[in-house]
Amino acid sequence: MNRDTAEKQINKLHNLLNQYNYEYHVLDNPSVPDSEYDKLMQELVQLESEYPELITPSSPTQRVGGQALSDFEKVRHQTQMLSLANAFSESDLRDFDRRVRQAIDDSYSYVCELKIDGLAVSLRYEEGLFVQGSTRGDGTIGEDITSNLRTIRSLPLKLKEPYSIEVRGEAFMPKKSFIKLNKEKEAKGEMLFANPRNAAAGSLRQLDPKIAASRNLDIFLYGIGDFGTMGVSTHSSGLDLLERVGLKVNKERKRCNSIEEVLQYIERWTKDRPNLDYEIDGIVIKVDSLDQQIDLGTTAKSPRWAIAYKFPAEEVVTKLTDIELSVGRTGVITPTAILEPVRVAGTTVQRASLHNEDLIREKDIMLGDWVIVKKAGDIIPEVVHVLEERRNGEEIPFHMPTHCPECSSELVRLDGEVALRCLNPKCPAQRREGLIHFASRNAMNIEGLGEKVISQLFALELVKDPADIYSLTEDQLLSMERMGEKSAANLLKAIEVSKSNSLEKLLFGLGIRHVGAKAAATLAEHFETMDKLAVAKTEDLLLIDEVGEKMADAISTYFENEEVEQLLVKLKNAGVNMEYLGPKRSETVNIDSIFNGKTVVLTGKLEKMSRNDAKAKIESMGGKVTGSVSKKTDLVIAGEEAGSKLTKAEELGIEVWDEEKLLEELEK
Ligand code: IVH
Repeated sequence: MNRDTAEKQINKLHNLLNQYNYEYHVLDNPSVPDSEYDKLMQELVQLESEYPELITPSSPTQRVGGQALSDFEKVRHQTQMLSLANAFSESDLRDFDRRVRQAIDDSYSYVCELKIDGLAVSLRYEEGLFVQGSTRGDGTIGEDITSNLRTIRSLPLKLKEPYSIEVRGEAFMPKKSFIKLNKEKEAKGEMLFANPRNAAAGSLRQLDPKIAASRNLDIFLYGIGDFGTMGVSTHSSGLDLLERVGLKVNKERKRCNSIEEVLQYIERWTKDRPNLDYEIDGIVIKVDSLDQQIDLGTTAKSPRWAIAYKFPAEEVVTKLTDIELSVGRTGVITPTAILEPVRVAGTTVQRASLHNEDLIREKDIMLGDWVIVKKAGDIIPEVVHVLEERRNGEEIPFHMPTHCPECSSELVRLDGEVALRCLNPKCPAQRREGLIHFASRNAMNIEGLGEKVISQLFALELVKDPADIYSLTEDQLLSMERMGEKSAANLLKAIEVSKSNSLEKLLFGLGIRHVGAKAAATLAEHFETMDKLAVAKTEDLLLIDEVGEKMADAISTYFENEEVEQLLVKLKNAGVNMEYLGPKRSETVNIDSIFNGKTVVLTGKLEKMSRNDAKAKIESMGGKVTGSVSKKTDLVIAGEEAGSKLTKAEELGIEVWDEEKLLEELEK
C-alpha cells in the first residue's frame, strides 16, 4: 500500500471507528459486534505503525497516550464556570419560580435535567478537534486534565461539525464501574473510594492517564460558555445542537411549562433514581430562553436563571459526646458538636456545626444526647434533632462561656445578632482564622497553605500577619511537621505566584467586614489601586451601586487603622501586587457616549444582533443593562414583539428606542 492509499484508508478507519465508538458509548446502541471494532482498530494500529507521520491527535488510537505528568498545568476559563444555588424543598422551588416571574414579565419555560454527581469539567474544541479539558477549580482557574479526559470513550476527540466551542459538563463514574473498582481495591487491600463522585474525581486527578483509562469514566455535557454564539435562542435547542455534533447529552432532560411540571419531574426522579446506571444528587432547573437568562443575570457565584434541587439527605443516629467552641475570623464564637463517628452519605462524620447558642436552645441539645445527623446538601454535617425518648437523665445541659476560649476577653452579643463575639482585635484565634481566609481559594488562592499548615506556622510564630507569608524561607518550612522538600518548594512557588494576583483577590483576602468576593471585585475595578481605595471618602464609596452604608463605613474604618496601614506597606514591600489587572471598563468607556451612566433594558427580539452582543456593547460604552423596567430605568430598547416591558416603559414615560436607533447610536 502506498502512502496515499494508506492515508485514505486511515481516514476511512477514523470515521468508521468514531462512528462505532459513538454508537456504543454515546447512543448505547452498537450496530456492529465488538469484534468488528477490534479488527478495525488493529488495522489502524498497523497502518499507523507503518506511517507514524500520519498519526493525528484525534486518531482513535490516541486516547490513552503520552507520558505520566509531573503536575497539572493551570487553565484560565474563557468564561467563568459558575455553580448553582440550591433548593431543598418545594417551597424553595416556588420561591425561585416567584423570583423568575418577577424578573421576567413575559411567559417562560424551564428545562429540567438530572444533576449528575461527578466532577464539573470544561472541554475546549477548536475547529471540531478536542484540544483541552479542565476541572472547574475556583471557577476562574482550573487544572488541565486533557490527557485523562481523552480516555473517556464517550467524549468525541472530533466533533461532527468543525465548531470552536467550550462545552461544560459532568464527568462521572457509572455505578457498575465504581463497584468493580472498589472490589479490585478491596482485593488489593487498598483504601476504598467513599462514593462514585470521589472515585471519578480521584481518577481524573491521576497524573498517569493509563489509570484514568482503566476506570471506565463517562461524561454528560449540559451547556457551553455562551450558547448565544451558536445561533440558538434556547438552552434546550443548544443541548440538541450539542447532541447533533456528537457530544453526549443526558436524554432524560425535559422542558416544563410551569413549576407544577417541574415538581412532577422531581417526584418522578426521586422515585426512579435507583434505576439509573449513574448517581444523581438532584435535579437542575434552568430557564430555557437565553434572552431571559441574560435578563435574569448572575450573582458572583451562580446564575439567577437556574437552581439545583437537592434530594433529601440520608439520616443516621449517633451520640453527641461534647460541644467544642471555636473563634472565627470576625470573632464569632461557634459551637461544634463532637459526635461518636458515624457513616453518613459515604463518609464518616464526627463533628457538626451548631452555629450559635440560640440553635442549641431551640433544639434543646444536651451533652450525651442521642441525635439524628444528616449531611445538608449531602456535604455539611448537621444535627437535625435530639431523640428525647432516649434520654436517661445523665445528659448535661450546655452553657455558652462568658469569656473567649482563646484570649479570655469578655464575650458580647451585638445588637440584633444571635452570635456571641470576642471583640479583641488581637485575639490569636481571629488572627489565625484571618490568615486561613487570606490564603483561601477565593482570596489569594495559595495552594498548599491550608488550615493545618497555617495553624502550625502561626503556632511557631513564623507567620503573625498576612505579609509574613511572603518572607517564609525553605528552611523555616522544612522545620514543620510533615513538610518535605517537594511540598516546601511547591508552597514557596504558590506564594510567589500569588504576588501577581489582581487587586480584588487581595482585597477580599484582607477580610474587611461586609466586603465579600463580589464587592471586592467591584471595588477593585472601580478604584483600580489599593492606594486610591484607601483614601476614598465614604461619599465616593456610596456612589458605587453595590456599596451600602454598612460596607462604606466598614471600608473607611478599616483603612483608618494604623496597623492596617503598616500591613499594606509590608505587603507592598514584599512585592504583592496592589493593582486591578482585569478588564478596565474605564479605558473603553467613551465619556461622551450616550449610554454612559444609563440604566438600559433590552426587550423583544433584535434582528441584527444578539441581545448578548447588544448588552456587551452598551456596557462597553458605560451603560448598565438590567432585566426589568422600573423608575430607575433610563432607556428601553424594544425589538420585535416587545411585550409588557414596553407597556410598562410607556406607562412610566421612559424613553424607548427601536433597534435601528440603537444601531445608529452604537455606531457613533
Ligand atoms: S448547570 C451555571 N447542569 O452541579 C450552571 N450542572 O453547582 C452550571 N451538575 O458542579 C451548572 N449536573 O457540574 C448543571 N445538568 C446539570 C448538572 C450540573 C451536574 C453539577 C455541576 C456543578 C454543580 C452545580
